[in-house]
Amino acid sequence: MSTAEKRLVVLISGSGSNLQAFIDQCANGTLNARIVKVLSNKVDAFGLTRAANAGIDTCVIDHTQFESRAAFDAAMGDAIETCQPDAVILAGFMRILTPEFVSRFHGRLLNIHPSLLPKYPGLHTHQRAIDAGDRYAGASVHFVTAELDGGPVVLQAQVAISGDDTAASLAEKILIKEHIIYPRATQWLLEGRLALHEDGAYLDKQKLEQSGILLEHDH
Ligand code: GRF
Repeated sequence: MSTAEKRLVVLISGSGSNLQAFIDQCANGTLNARIVKVLSNKVDAFGLTRAANAGIDTCVIDHTQFESRAAFDAAMGDAIETCQPDAVILAGFMRILTPEFVSRFHGRLLNIHPSLLPKYPGLHTHQRAIDAGDRYAGASVHFVTAELDGGPVVLQAQVAISGDDTAASLAEKILIKEHIIYPRATQWLLEGRLALHEDGAYLDKQKLEQSGILLEHDH
């Protein structure tokens, strides 16, 4: 591995299909990076098995063992900092982060959210899109700021909602897109093309719109 290789830390709480996309794309060279550590707040997260299968170091920091959110975030932040990551990837990490944690990794912290932000921050995004009668749903990669699911959006992908879609079928379709857009936006960040400024996200020195860039259909 070359010393110029960029270092990623991935945070998970569950299945880790996005983590798997990162593992695969690091292996095939689509993403020019190495995952140096996978951190989970859940001991039974399947993503830990995916990481172990790929020979990646894992660490569980169980949030229930901490007195406060601040104490948990401090421990996690310390564990991450030891890894000297170029980017910290939240991949289905189901904990709300304190502003202190977010500021430690300012501009290096990305998340993926299964909605077309700014629509539907928070939970149950797929059902909310169906209930609202939306024609499209999707996913958004965004910089993490102190506001929940509120940081500047970088890249989105959308899928059409069909009449027989359920929250589960929609989630499945959207995950396929997530696995494309998340590593891609990360690659931009690692290449120095993507940056977080006071007034929003910039790609190649151009300020992005509120909803970021939309991945073309059928890619
Ligand atoms: C994805 O839908 C992602 O958008 C959301 O959490 C889910 C994680 O899925 N933040 P996985 O663990 O990567 O399969």
